[in-house]
Amino acid sequence: MSIYITGDCHGDYRRFNTENFPEQKTMTKDDYVIICGDFGFWSEDREQRWWRNWLEAKPFTTLWVDGNHENYDLLAPVPAEPWHGGKVQRILPSVLRLMRGQVFDIGGYRFFTFGGASSHDIQGGILEQDDPAFLTKKKRLDRQRIPYRINHVSWWKEELPSIKEREEGLRNLERRGNAVDYVVTHCAPTGIQNRFGGPLFQPDCLTEYLQTVEERIAFRKWFFGHYHDDRAVTDRHVMLYEQILRI
Ligand SMILES: [Fe+2]
Repeated sequence: MSIYITGDCHGDYRRFNTENFPEQKTMTKDDYVIICGDFGFWSEDREQRWWRNWLEAKPFTTLWVDGNHENYDLLAPVPAEPWHGGKVQRILPSVLRLMRGQVFDIGGYRFFTFGGASSHDIQGGILEQDDPAFLTKKKRLDRQRIPYRINHVSWWKEELPSIKEREEGLRNLERRGNAVDYVVTHCAPTGIQNRFGGPLFQPDCLTEYLQTVEERIAFRKWFFGHYHDDRAVTDRHVMLYEQILRI
């Protein structure tokens, strides 16, 4: 059994073709590839459905935590189901979202998962489609090339977790003696983010929550995405983007 882990995909899964990821030749559906958020569950258009089916046809099981760029309206109706000790949403038979605040036992290792992050490419704000000034605002921002997002089209408030999700995470950790092997998140705890993040990356309720988690638990390695770089920030905190690591 093998477990690989990588960073943000944003709906582009070409890193998993056989040329870039030849290890799959000996893999089966009992082997796993984990994506640290921004999987790209974004739309139901033909192209995205085609890519998801392409992933489903791969000889491994794809597991992902959510990022800030997922479509939470699409995700909401997918029922949660128990899987390896935690809760998942099954997008396709072997493409599963590892839900927030869950502890999973996979291949003899214990994983804590908690997706989500604040979008930071929103200097132009979040536009509302039913705002009478929507088009005027959009045109102005497009003209000035200021990044913005549109509520329920390219931004969802669920990118940050509810109190219920946060509490569930702490309870699940406590039940396992506050000890796991690996943590998989999209953003990093505040203390780690402060080491490399510029002014764009400010602490928020999620980085602060992850900081609390970090101070409370024993863990071997913490993998996260979001920052679009591959880097070992400490000997235990690994930032992932396009690199695929074997755990
Ligand atoms: Fe991303």
